[in-house]
Amino acid sequence: MVQLSERMNEESATIKNRQWWKEAVVYQIYPKSFYDSNGDGIGDLTGVIQKLDYLKELGIDVIWLSPVYQSPMDDNGYDISDYQAIAEEFGSMEDMDLLIHEAKKRDIKIIMDLVVNHTSDEHEWFIESKSDVKHPKRDWYIWRNGRKDGTPPNNWKSIFGGSCWEYDEQTGQYYLHAFSKKQPDLNWENPDLRNAVYKMVRWWLDKGISGFRVDAITFIKKRQDFAHSHDGMNVIETNQQGIHEFLSELRKEAFTSPDILTVAEAPGVSYKELPIYAGEDGHFSMLFEFDHVDLDVGKEGKWYETYNWNLLDFKKAISDSQTFYNNTGWGALYLENHDQPRSLNKFIKPEDIGPIPAKMLATVYFFLKGTPFIYQGQEIGMTNVEYPSIEHYNDLASIDQYYSALKEGFSKEEALAAIWRRSRDNSRTPMQWNHSEYAGFSQGTPWLEINSNYSFINVENALKDRNSLFYFYKKLISLRKSSPYSDVIAFGKYEDIFKDSLQIMAYTRELNDKKIAVIANFDNKELTLNLDFNIKNVILSNYDYLELHLNQIKLRPYESIVCEVDLSF
Ligand code: GLC
Ligand code: CA
Repeated sequence: MVQLSERMNEESATIKNRQWWKEAVVYQIYPKSFYDSNGDGIGDLTGVIQKLDYLKELGIDVIWLSPVYQSPMDDNGYDISDYQAIAEEFGSMEDMDLLIHEAKKRDIKIIMDLVVNHTSDEHEWFIESKSDVKHPKRDWYIWRNGRKDGTPPNNWKSIFGGSCWEYDEQTGQYYLHAFSKKQPDLNWENPDLRNAVYKMVRWWLDKGISGFRVDAITFIKKRQDFAHSHDGMNVIETNQQGIHEFLSELRKEAFTSPDILTVAEAPGVSYKELPIYAGEDGHFSMLFEFDHVDLDVGKEGKWYETYNWNLLDFKKAISDSQTFYNNTGWGALYLENHDQPRSLNKFIKPEDIGPIPAKMLATVYFFLKGTPFIYQGQEIGMTNVEYPSIEHYNDLASIDQYYSALKEGFSKEEALAAIWRRSRDNSRTPMQWNHSEYAGFSQGTPWLEINSNYSFINVENALKDRNSLFYFYKKLISLRKSSPYSDVIAFGKYEDIFKDSLQIMAYTRELNDKKIAVIANFDNKELTLNLDFNIKNVILSNYDYLELHLNQIKLRPYESIVCEVDLSF
């Protein structure tokens, strides 16, 4: 006994910095599409409260709530007109307080979306800023004169397409917007603005939330020369020199509780910089990377061109950052979110989409080093949608992209095919709760059309079938949280194996005297693998039964296994 407890002490001593968020699983809710409690066709906070027991059953620890603040909803809430009010269609501040309270009762934490690169053009700050060049808040946004010929100050393009400058008649100047023209960028150079942001953040933390997902944060620093861009696409640049001063200050002044989870959406950060950005000493607890989810996007950022990626590209994207996280920082693990198409359509051949490949994908990312995020509907295998024409789409980015593709000479069919593949509406269709009308999401007509496969892909069916993807996710979560493998899954060293295989993705995780291997077949062909280790036991498989020999495995189509490696010889 003495020996055992000594060894346990030794083990936990080797795990430095055990923060709660390193052992948590997060579930992302896109409130507009989650559950509508009052029949107006729009998901709402009461709807989230009513589904907390479902999330508890799944076993998650944290909810990331996409924006619920007051907003004209040009970009579905990522355009905020009041940070300290709740959008009417989502409910009230009382509902928000109740949600925090009800979640807490079930041991679930809430993190909010923090959108502070920009506000809505209907935010009071912008209305004041716009009113007069001499207004004290003029400098809270980025205003510039046009060039001599009246054209915008420079050739920077916004993320959603077109110039990132919008002319304001009244004061004769342009303002900058990295996203839509209804999302003017805040001027982080101004200390009063920064302090107003920090104060708002502290106000939310005082309410009892447990952190933030920080939107588009690498955009906050602009090149101060505002020079013409010569990089071809001219899209406004991220992660500019000087950003670290803002981010350190944000952490120090706003993220005041020592114990919060902050996850940054941070495009443009190189692997070299990961340690500065993520981990207990970084600007944030963790950050979302994009390489592994944007594999299919044309290299120049031309979203409508298909880039033919292969499994080596996917594996490289994952293993480059995982290798970094072996030494420093922390990963945010995800395959889907509200900006990405569904993972089944992205990674699996269309004719093979179904529960087995879905479980394989889940396995592959859940055992990596970092905190897993599940996007609503992912746990029941929801898929992309193909609306018959652009009029059925809601996402402003998709609509812009469709028309710019037409301008570039694509046919309507080609443009629509690209939208089917990449539209953000793919993941925003209402959550499929059951097979009744409107998928049990609402009593009224939903704001966005339901995916027609709701009659068989839905929560009710998933809960009835012990073999469903839902229960597989539940199993994954419990392995992470309360199993003999919890520590090795959370803290073990990552190493990729079968690196050059175009069919297999595999890696090991090792901590002290435990080592596990994750092996997945990404193809619909069977294959036999010779391992250079012996399997001690199988922890998880996505098939009913397994054909196993000590150091040889036969993997069926999309089969994945997680096993313990025998370290005794
Ligand atoms: C982030 C959000 C996206 C939004 C954009 C502008 O990328 O995830 O949904 O459109 O920022 O706020
Ligand atoms: Ca509603």
